[in-house]
Amino acid sequence: MKVGIPSEIFPNELRVAATPKTVKRLQKQGFEVYIQHNAGIKANFSDKDFEEAGAKIVATAVEIYGKSDIVLKVKEPAMEEVDMMKEGLVMLSYLWPAQNQPLLQKLADKKVNAIAMDAIPRISRAQKMDVLSSMANIAGYRAVIEGSYHFGRFLNGQITAAGKVEPAKILVIGAGVAGLAAIGAANSLGAIVRAFDTRKEVAEQIESMGAQFLTVEINEDGATASGYSKEMSKAFIDAEMALFKAQAAEVDIIITTAQIPGRPAPKLILADHVAVMKPGSVIVDLAASSGGNCELTKNGEVYTTDNGVTIIGKLNQLPSQASQLYGNNLCHLLDDMGKAEKWKIDMEDAVVSRAMVTYNGKINWPPAPLPVSPAKQKVAEVVVEDPKVVAARKNKKEATSMVIKLSVIGLFLLMLGQFAPSAFMQHFTVFVLAVFIGWQVIWNVSHSLHTPLMAVTNAISGIIIVGGLLQTTDDLTSPMTIIAFVAILVASINIVGGFVVTHRMLKMFKK
Ligand code: NAI
Repeated sequence: MKVGIPSEIFPNELRVAATPKTVKRLQKQGFEVYIQHNAGIKANFSDKDFEEAGAKIVATAVEIYGKSDIVLKVKEPAMEEVDMMKEGLVMLSYLWPAQNQPLLQKLADKKVNAIAMDAIPRISRAQKMDVLSSMANIAGYRAVIEGSYHFGRFLNGQITAAGKVEPAKILVIGAGVAGLAAIGAANSLGAIVRAFDTRKEVAEQIESMGAQFLTVEINEDGATASGYSKEMSKAFIDAEMALFKAQAAEVDIIITTAQIPGRPAPKLILADHVAVMKPGSVIVDLAASSGGNCELTKNGEVYTTDNGVTIIGKLNQLPSQASQLYGNNLCHLLDDMGKAEKWKIDMEDAVVSRAMVTYNGKINWPPAPLPVSPAKQKVAEVVVEDPKVVAARKNKKEATSMVIKLSVIGLFLLMLGQFAPSAFMQHFTVFVLAVFIGWQVIWNVSHSLHTPLMAVTNAISGIIIVGGLLQTTDDLTSPMTIIAFVAILVASINIVGGFVVTHRMLKMFKK
């Protein structure tokens, strides 16, 4: 089967749908790869790079569209590109089907089977094909880099011989994929990061990435079963905007990423918010193309307001990186569709059937809703309780169970004391208390400290091994030797296991 990659014809589109690395991967999947002359030039991939990877260079788009079985593209095709497509062609690209009805009609009339990469459903299995996530990740990172470029100071705090430098304060609005990437990048550059989102479930993610989660007094959750946010009530948006006004006067950079699928981006930073910002502050509006989160954003432009605030409505795409990730997403989808050998358009498949927006001459949009898993439905239906009440109830329950456990242990020791010799009782009481205290200590250690804890348990295992060795005798059938042997075995397993797990974790941090 032949896979073709045309040049992108939109002047601002710098990406290409394949890179030399993904060309190699496509060939491993069994495809012959054809790429248009200079298709990768804006993303820094030359024809020579593609040829060395095994692709054949083709002079014109007409040849690509006319000869390929599958075409990989980035931007939605222009009408004149559709004219070049042959019947039965499978085309994968961004399509924004909700906004591009005439284009869908033309693709359907041409009997092109078009897959909208932006319509891949957001289910766990499809994460590897999710171009919206991979591109949002890049945008979040880039927002920090460009925000920092236009901001006239360091992001991190420093104490130098020349004086003390305060760290910059960054507010991230919307903590989805782009927002979390921005938080990660800003934090790693040393800024103080704050973040806000309508979905309460992201609070933990925000905090685990080192940012402070801001809240409003109104108890409304934007979470939906789809993973996206719903449109919030006016009261919530008003409260949110009041919070942003207070923050705007304080922070140095605001990065906005708030979106609601199928709707214009919510306006969250108004002209009077911008007016209270310090001169030299920066707003990076990642929602610029869907209307902007800031009232003053100009899509595709970077400008400075009269009070000295730079508003960024356009970001560099990082074309080389973006093409690589986009190309990987495409390869994953082709993998799922059976590669060249077992190629199949399976309209029963949850991902293909929802992303295939035109099929066999018919428009297949909007797609059937995804069945919601019972667990998610439960989350949606759950009644929101005051967290303080929940915590108090949990504490009471824990205290009661502790009293019961202690009483049972006490009673057991008392009964044992009636019969057992006093030397045994002394050792046994120490043993029980040691187990109890050890368990309490370990249970309360936070997850992030489990690795150092493992090192301590290795030390304890070492002591057990020494104890076990001292207790072994020549008599292999004696109960003491058998127990000592079991102790040595279990402690050794613990030590070896500890080293293996620690080694694996350290490997994760090695570059
Ligand atoms: P997005 O780009 O549509 O929205 C960005 C963020 O803006 C969201 O976190 C949303 O809650 C927030 N937002 C909307 N209105 C707001 C307002 N008025 N104020 C403040 N924030 C507001 O969403 P994105 O980043 O594409 O994905 C959202 C979520 O979807 C992810 O966090 C994840 O949970 C889920 N997801 C699941 C995937 C999968 O399972 N395959 C893949 C990607 C995302």
